[in-house]
Amino acid sequence: MTADGLNRVLLVGFMGSGKTSVGRTLADRLGWRFIDFDNAIEKAAGASIPELFEKRGEQYFRSLEATVSERLLSEMRVVLGSGGGWGSVPGRLTALPSGTDSFWLRVSAPTAISRTAEEPGARPLLDRDDALREASRLLAMRDPIYGQARWAVDTEHSSVEDVTSRILDILLREHPEILTS
Ligand code: S3P
Repeated sequence: MTADGLNRVLLVGFMGSGKTSVGRTLADRLGWRFIDFDNAIEKAAGASIPELFEKRGEQYFRSLEATVSERLLSEMRVVLGSGGGWGSVPGRLTALPSGTDSFWLRVSAPTAISRTAEEPGARPLLDRDDALREASRLLAMRDPIYGQARWAVDTEHSSVEDVTSRILDILLREHPEILTS
């Protein structure tokens, strides 16, 4: 067990940046669990994210997201895939519990839109005619805050495997104890 060392790898970034697919692959490589914030919120609420937005509103979703994420940030030996809005709240990435390392998966608005189009209706904030414009607007506000993660990894022209390898290289260099723990 890694009582004092690294226990959490937190992935932040915009919708479509690959947090879930990279997170799963990374967790697999580390032999750790992968937990997706949205998935945990859906379990806690007994409703899907689009249902929560539609029936309870974004504010309700955000407060549930805040509560659930606090619990997840105390789990051990986990890769955490946050929701795109979670890591865009000022102050969160600079106040992470010890034993947590954070990575910003960077993506452009057009790439985010083309990746998220593979799951139509899954992301209420982009479920609109001017989705590209909205993604650009949100990214312009959010990128400086995502940028407070400790590391930034570009995902634009990279496969899930490539992004995962780059993160693993950093983790093994910075936290060599994870190999033996
Ligand atoms: C959101 C991102 C989504 C989900 C919700 C809101 C956001 O998660 O939490 O639709 O505000 O960017 P993903 O980034 O996993 O798609």
